[in-house]
Amino acid sequence: MSAELNGHVALVTGAGRGIGRACAEGLADAGAHVIAVARTEGDLAELREHSSGRIDTWVGDVTDDTFAARVETIEGLSILVNNAGGNRPQAFVDVDAESLDFVIGLNVRAAFRVAQAAVKAMLAQRIEGSIVNMSSQMGHVGSPKRTVYCMTKHAVEGLTKAMAVELAPQGIRVNAVAPTFVETPMTEPMLEDPEFREFVFGMVPLKKLASLDDVVAAVLYLVSPGAGMVTGHSLKVDGGWTAH
Ligand SMILES: NC(=O)c1ccc[n+]([C@@H]2O[C@H](COP(=O)([O-])OP(=O)(O)OC[C@H]3O[C@@H](n4cnc5c(N)ncnc54)[C@H](OP(=O)(O)O)[C@@H]3O)[C@@H](O)[C@H]2O)c1
Repeated sequence: MSAELNGHVALVTGAGRGIGRACAEGLADAGAHVIAVARTEGDLAELREHSSGRIDTWVGDVTDDTFAARVETIEGLSILVNNAGGNRPQAFVDVDAESLDFVIGLNVRAAFRVAQAAVKAMLAQRIEGSIVNMSSQMGHVGSPKRTVYCMTKHAVEGLTKAMAVELAPQGIRVNAVAPTFVETPMTEPMLEDPEFREFVFGMVPLKKLASLDDVVAAVLYLVSPGAGMVTGHSLKVDGGWTAH
């Protein structure tokens, strides 16, 4: 895998921790020059020490429209891992307006604006790029205390398909990765609850969580030349959760 992405420039949002961080490292290991984005400089500082020497970092907020303007200027951008996202699990009747706006703003509006900016950069430079939107198994099913999250991830799935169809003539491929639960700073507090953990393991036929490596492998496949005929797809890394 190490030489496969030589010459590529990849933008990874939400790359300070968790899945985004693992994707930034995986893409750099595969030869890409990576721009890793998050709001917390302390998390990004460690990434700059990555052994490949191919990770640059930007402190930025994907919900800010000035961030999208900056993405449009990236020279040679050929890969976007549109990963920044979040969740505030709440019972449907308890969802407050601020949380609703926050999760939609981050998971849908910002994901749309960042993807739009990346595509503008690719089109302006006639680059046949590849975009991976970080969805979730919750973009395919419903689950308790996840009405807002499921709604936003279903939106990401719709965005992925519509972008794939519209941008295919320009050679830009657009896919989604849809993981089950992965242990990250986002899910740690949820998975500390033994009842919730039991629920999760009960739902996954393979009886395990996804690892960061499982998710990175899916991203690397989708952006690789081997996936040259794959667009509009959602690659579920869910141990079978959505199969039953
Ligand atoms: N973990 C799972 O089980 C799981 C399963 C399926 C799908 N996903 C999806 O995978 C993605 C990553 O999840 P994760 O679990 O790795 O999350 P995480 O551990 O909470 O990490 C999120 C990263 O995004 C950054 N971020 C958050 N808001 C941002 C903003 N407005 N602008 C820029 N960066 C921002 C955070 O850093 P700062 O706070 O410093 O900005 C952090 O580096 C999300 O889209 C999530 O929905 C996760």
